[in-house]
Amino acid sequence: MSETTIPAWQVPAPPERLERVSRLYTYAVVGATGAVGREVLAILAERGHPISHVRAIASERSAGSSMTYGDSEVPVASLTSDSFAGIDIAIFGASAEVAREYAPAAVRAGAIVIDNSSAFRMDPRVPLVIPEVNGKELDGTPSLIANPNCSTILLLVALDPLRRAFGLERIHVATYQAVSGAGLAAMEELREQTGAMLAGRDATPRVFKEPCAFNVFSHDSTVNEADGVNGEERKIIEESAKIWNERIPLTPTCIRVPVLRAHSQAVSVTLREPASVDEIREVLRAAPGLRVIDDRAANDFPTPRKATGGDQVLVGRIRHDPANPPDAFGRSRHLCLWLSGDQLRKGAALNAVQIAERVISRSSG
Ligand SMILES: NC(=O)c1ccc[n+]([C@@H]2O[C@H](COP(=O)([O-])OP(=O)(O)OC[C@H]3O[C@@H](n4cnc5c(N)ncnc54)[C@H](OP(=O)(O)O)[C@@H]3O)[C@@H](O)[C@H]2O)c1
Repeated sequence: MSETTIPAWQVPAPPERLERVSRLYTYAVVGATGAVGREVLAILAERGHPISHVRAIASERSAGSSMTYGDSEVPVASLTSDSFAGIDIAIFGASAEVAREYAPAAVRAGAIVIDNSSAFRMDPRVPLVIPEVNGKELDGTPSLIANPNCSTILLLVALDPLRRAFGLERIHVATYQAVSGAGLAAMEELREQTGAMLAGRDATPRVFKEPCAFNVFSHDSTVNEADGVNGEERKIIEESAKIWNERIPLTPTCIRVPVLRAHSQAVSVTLREPASVDEIREVLRAAPGLRVIDDRAANDFPTPRKATGGDQVLVGRIRHDPANPPDAFGRSRHLCLWLSGDQLRKGAALNAVQIAERVISRSSG
């Protein structure tokens, strides 16, 4: 069949791409100058990846600049369809349009592509992966892997252990999303507006329609006029169903808050089997990627500040829903919790790097 009838990412990556005697890999980071791309470079260096070369790629605007990678500076090249020659793993942190245009070229050049944008997430041919939840999707070494939306990742890292232990029947979530979810320009907007408003000047929104300093507003994604659900909420609903391969009724309300970095979520769940708060804490403490901070006496719970820069999703305020009190054994099916997680790390860059690690470990194991 011709290349036009078989999308490149349907073809499993050729094993020889990852069967290198040296076990050193070449990486490309597309969008290396952006909020996610910078974090990818930092995490690759921190985690001591077996890397022989990192190619930093962005738009023409950034060509000729450089980015920090560990102790060195790497030059930034502009993206072209020739950018991926000799690249083993390409992590995309640019727009969906850029991914649609260039990810197929990267795959054709022999790279395994991990894309942070929404371009391929709902494509049934492309695995949508949170390694802790459905890492087995990587077993066939696909050539193109989609990273889920940041809010989806944080929610499912926290809820998947409960789904496995007790079953999940119903989920409500309200998000408190940091401005950096909309990229570097949005972080700059919050800094500028905060300074302006403290100095008594007006804040003029550019990235967001509403002022983001000293304000809280409904998520800036497009609202579906027919049902009132916005794009971010739709992503959480649809991506969760794809990742879990099960459609658990899920009601999200997505909100932007004047926080620079790390999203938080207030979550209420109905379990299939009743559980006590201690049992929930125990399950969450044993789960990968989570840290329980749940000290009622000290009023010490997750915050975006505590989550910023960290790899774990912080979970706390674990309690029975007061509208559905526990039974005589201290168990109920209705639980509430609160979480905070660094969406630039676990919600994007770290998850992508963990996918790369898993692909590499499969090929060398
Ligand atoms: N921010 C988050 O928390 C988050 C979480 C999950 C997923 N994502 C997704 O990750 C992607 C990146 O988001 P971000 O927050 O990092 O955005 P960002 O800070 O605005 O960075 C965008 C990056 O894309 C590059 N870029 C733009 N146009 C390009 C082009 N034509 N060719 C090559 N590179 C181009 C930019 O390069 P220049 O500097 O040269 O313009 C920059 O490096 C988006 O798809 C976003 O939806 C973001």
